[in-house]
Amino acid sequence: MTNHPVRIAPSLLAADMLNIERDVRACEAAGADILHVDVMDGHFVPPITFGPAFVARLRTITTMPLDVHLMVTNPDHQVEQFAAAGAHWISVHAEVTPHLHRTLHRIKALGCRAGVVLNPITPLEYAFAAGGDADFILLMSVNPGYGGQAFIPSFLQRCERLRTWLDANGLSHVEIEVDGGIKASNARDVINAGANVLVSGSGVFGGSIEQNVADLRNA
Ligand code: DX5
Ligand code: ZN
Repeated sequence: MTNHPVRIAPSLLAADMLNIERDVRACEAAGADILHVDVMDGHFVPPITFGPAFVARLRTITTMPLDVHLMVTNPDHQVEQFAAAGAHWISVHAEVTPHLHRTLHRIKALGCRAGVVLNPITPLEYAFAAGGDADFILLMSVNPGYGGQAFIPSFLQRCERLRTWLDANGLSHVEIEVDGGIKASNARDVINAGANVLVSGSGVFGGSIEQNVADLRNA
């Protein structure tokens, strides 16, 4: 279980690309907490999605915090651009960030909250090693790259283990974010396992955004 406030983070990957502003407004009206922006470079993962110009434009239409998830092979080339564009949270994958300590502190020095992301089979030891330098740890509950995939159940055990480790090591302030396959039907389980930032793409934008956010919140 987590002591942190639950934050709902709609993933714009599943929004209507030709009606992003309308969908952002609906997320605001529905009471979502932060907006999750999936940045993919066609290399770390096959798709190509959003760049800093998109984040800068988003920044002009909303005051919601922007949570930039960098699925890119060279995150060190990107963090400055996304911070300048108005990102509030920036997370980098442990699998492709050789100098995690330095990168996390660079993100913080740029005025953003810094996160480490772990793929579903990446050992938790990376989070143990970097946890003291991070504001949050993003545990993937699917393999990154695509929305609409099924939640991988082993996430729950990993999340519980990480929450317990953080709390036992003076790192209770570090938040755990979960990304992939989150819906109202499993939201309670992931919160019980210790996650408090819930990313949801197809679970929010499939159908009524207002209703879906409310269902996630009530779960
Ligand atoms: C996957 C992305 C996710 C994705 C989640 O690589 O990091 O943020 O948008 O989509 P759903 O919630 O549909 O699994
Ligand atoms: Zn994501």
